[in-house]
Amino acid sequence: MTSGWLVLILFCLGQVTRAQLSNLGIHQVDGVDLEQKLLRLLLRVRVEESFDTLVIYGEECVLHSLLRHSLAPTVLVSAGSTEFDWNFSSSTLILSCGSNAEREVNYRTLMKLQTARRLIYLMEDSKPETVCGHYSAREQHNIAMIKSNVDHPVTIYTCRCFQDPNYEERDLCEDRPIFIEHFRDMRGGIIRTEADRQVPRSMAYWDAKSGEEKMIGYVANLMNNYAQKVNATLDFHHLPRDREKQALYTDITRWVKEDRIDIGTTMSTSLQESDLDDLSYPYLLTSYCLMVPIPARLPYNQIYAVIVDPLVLCIIFVLFYLLSALLIYSQRMSWQGLTLANVLLNDKSLRGLLGQSFPFPRDPSRNLKLVFFILCFASLMITTMYESYLQSYLTLPPPEPSIRTFQDVGNSRHKLAISRMELNVLIAKNNSHIGQIRRDRIWVVEDLNEFVRLRNSLNDSYIYTVTYDRWSCYQERQRTLSHPIFYYSLDLCFNRFLYFQIPVRRHLPHRHLFEEHMQRQQEFGLVQFWKSQSFLDMVRLGLKPMSASSQPPHIEPAIVVDDISWILKLFVAAMGVSCCCFILELCVWGVRRRMPPSAAYLATI
Ligand SMILES: *[C@@H]1O[C@H](CO)[C@@H](O)[C@H](O)[C@H]1NC(C)=O
Ligand SMILES: *[C@@H]1O[C@H](CO)[C@@H](O)[C@H](O)[C@H]1NC(C)=O
Ligand SMILES: *[C@@H]1O[C@H](CO)[C@@H](O)[C@H](O)[C@H]1NC(C)=O
Ligand SMILES: *[C@@H]1O[C@H](CO)[C@@H](O)[C@H](O)[C@H]1NC(C)=O
Repeated sequence: MTSGWLVLILFCLGQVTRAQLSNLGIHQVDGVDLEQKLLRLLLRVRVEESFDTLVIYGEECVLHSLLRHSLAPTVLVSAGSTEFDWNFSSSTLILSCGSNAEREVNYRTLMKLQTARRLIYLMEDSKPETVCGHYSAREQHNIAMIKSNVDHPVTIYTCRCFQDPNYEERDLCEDRPIFIEHFRDMRGGIIRTEADRQVPRSMAYWDAKSGEEKMIGYVANLMNNYAQKVNATLDFHHLPRDREKQALYTDITRWVKEDRIDIGTTMSTSLQESDLDDLSYPYLLTSYCLMVPIPARLPYNQIYAVIVDPLVLCIIFVLFYLLSALLIYSQRMSWQGLTLANVLLNDKSLRGLLGQSFPFPRDPSRNLKLVFFILCFASLMITTMYESYLQSYLTLPPPEPSIRTFQDVGNSRHKLAISRMELNVLIAKNNSHIGQIRRDRIWVVEDLNEFVRLRNSLNDSYIYTVTYDRWSCYQERQRTLSHPIFYYSLDLCFNRFLYFQIPVRRHLPHRHLFEEHMQRQQEFGLVQFWKSQSFLDMVRLGLKPMSASSQPPHIEPAIVVDDISWILKLFVAAMGVSCCCFILELCVWGVRRRMPPSAAYLATI
């Protein structure tokens, strides 16, 4: 830097002495003089902003004589267009021999060199405003021209946007910069945009003060602040269209690709778009997962059924038969009384296992005592186990099995709702997860807006796809409900790292300013702040985008008779059966009394 300024000062001193010399009538050889001046101009440009590569477009001219001074690595493009992708660093200075020398057709080179500074040596007699207009039409704005003729050995013009005339004249010794960043102040210039009006990213409202339609939301705010920063005007209604018809995300990206709008007030995901030329630097990082209804708690009337595990029940029955057999054996120390009825309906063993009292023989043998011991211990274990199960489940009923994998989604009673667009993207990306869900468990909603409406209704018959970014809004909404309906499942993600990018026209000349602005907003935490405010904004604007149409069935913390009705019914049925048995027994007893003993004996058999 310092050496650069030194050169500039020495050069200006040289100018003064040369002026004195020319006053004395001494003229230098023109070519050498011009070359020196050009060299000094380049040194000055390098002081303004360093460059490390030179590109010279066009046939041999005075600019080529600068090669001798080896200022920087130089690329000569005599044909006016390059054939290769421009892979050099971005700090490139372009020199052109004449205003028509640069006829670049290579698309990548054009894009990469769009914002590079350009110095044009005007050989023909063209006017600076035409040259500026010509370059400006090609969206190349960092232009300066050098003209030399007999009267004025070197005149420098520099193009200016957003003003009239569109160029300024500079002297080599002036300390006003030759190249400036035009788009830092666009002087009310227009940025064409279009909003997708996806709540809460961009929400339109009527500003009472100015009587205009304004936008708010964490994508719209980014645009508003950018326009304010670069002193530009946002035009949300650039394209003539049906005012009622909402511009869809797909329309906006298409218009951006067609160069019909500059920046889209919407967001593209890295899943949908792979051509980064039409996208900005990532704005948000998010994940793309499923929003799953919180598993319902088991109703009270099913708890009695749930606590009886079939395997445990089998073990208890086996235990019961074993104990009955042991009891029978140890009473007489022989298998004499062993009958099927005695084993299956052993009342001592049954009552013992159920924790009831049962007749204890007067002087039991040691073996019998041991069996009773085991019986009482088993009964204690079983009754305590069921008691604690029942009480804890009645205090807090267990939830239904939760969905942890994509296979579970297919087997659950909820269907997966997804929009056609998202499904197509997932299929095109060969997403392995979507393939794990049976197709008949997926409900495809053709229209994206219809899908968003369904999701906003928080209907818990479905599982929905959602990005974390959207989810934060649902989360906020759920805070106002008595209890949450959905949760965001990080186990069920199609993509854990998803970028949101803003669609930007590929030749937007102030793309670098926009990206820098975007990153600053993110750095300062403004985006986070806007996001956290978005639900409040929606409420403030009177938008009611989400209504919890279906509250989950609320489990009352009290048990009502209805909950144990089927247990009571079972009890009544069992009582009925035992009454029948009792009546039958009475009848049999009466018949036996009236019969002779031998007949009575036969009847019992
Ligand atoms: C520039 O980079 C691209 C992609 O990385 C490559 O295909 C191309 O060959 C490179 N061009 C040159 C001139 O190195
Ligand atoms: C913004 O642009 C207007 C013209 O629309 C201009 O008058 C004003 O000076 C500019 N503001 C700044 C801060 O440059
Ligand atoms: C998806 O898989 C098919 C064949 O299995 C393959 O041809 C295609 O290139 C894959 N697409 C992506 C985006 O990986
Ligand atoms: C949720 O969606 C299902 C299926 O479309 C429907 O039967 C049910 O009525 C909806 N629930 C509410 C509360 O709208």
